[in-house]
Amino acid sequence: MRFDVLTLFPDLFPGYLGQSLLKKAIDRQLVQVHVHDVRRWSKDKHQKVDDRPYGGGPGMVLRVEPVVECVEEVQREGRGPGRVIMLTPQGRRLNQQVVEELAQEDRLLLLCGRYEGFDQRIVDLLQPDEISIGDYILNGGEVAAMVIVDAVVRLVPDVLGEPLSTVEDSFSTGNRHLEWAQYTRPREFRGLAVPDVLLSGDHGAIARWRQEQGYLKTQQRRADLLETRPDGETTDDGQAGRSTDADN
Ligand code: ADE
Repeated sequence: MRFDVLTLFPDLFPGYLGQSLLKKAIDRQLVQVHVHDVRRWSKDKHQKVDDRPYGGGPGMVLRVEPVVECVEEVQREGRGPGRVIMLTPQGRRLNQQVVEELAQEDRLLLLCGRYEGFDQRIVDLLQPDEISIGDYILNGGEVAAMVIVDAVVRLVPDVLGEPLSTVEDSFSTGNRHLEWAQYTRPREFRGLAVPDVLLSGDHGAIARWRQEQGYLKTQQRRADLLETRPDGETTDDGQAGRSTDADN
């Protein structure tokens, strides 16, 4: 899978891309991430890519020419134009279902904004899929682009050691519960002991305990997950995600 990140701040990315799971996925050539500096497409001698909004008002707006020309040139590189994603607080909200949808693509172009926003003609011409990572305003789309890369990469075949771990993840399709509590050594720390059931070796009992714990935590913290399916529809019984075949 190939990602192209189009940004005014390319130096934000090497640290993130050079660590952990993502670095391994890149080294193993399972994913490619190309970061492009939109300023390279500026015709201004100071490499300016923004300007004041027509009609007045605060802030600066990203100009149409450098952004559109950058996207078009990057699209000509590599196989196929890919799907253009614009990171913006006005977009549809990212969730695991959207992540799963994006992971089906061979190539994603992630367009990061800064300043007050994009010239509307960028949207009109490129018709991007506009995505927001939440109802808050970031200084730009770069962190949001990293969030998308991070979440999508986990679903690229062979990136994770154990494929089952994504199926079991909270929020993955058909799984609408929070994670149960996990423990590792030592068995006791400052008087807090690991629950006996986890030391019992009884796999059926452990699975039931985990299922119950996950369900209770979801009920306490995110009851909305139990009431809606991943597509946003309300379930009949309000118990989506509560599996009764915990031993399987
Ligand atoms: N750019 C600024 N805020 C954003 C957000 N919440 N999601 C995506 N891109 C953004």
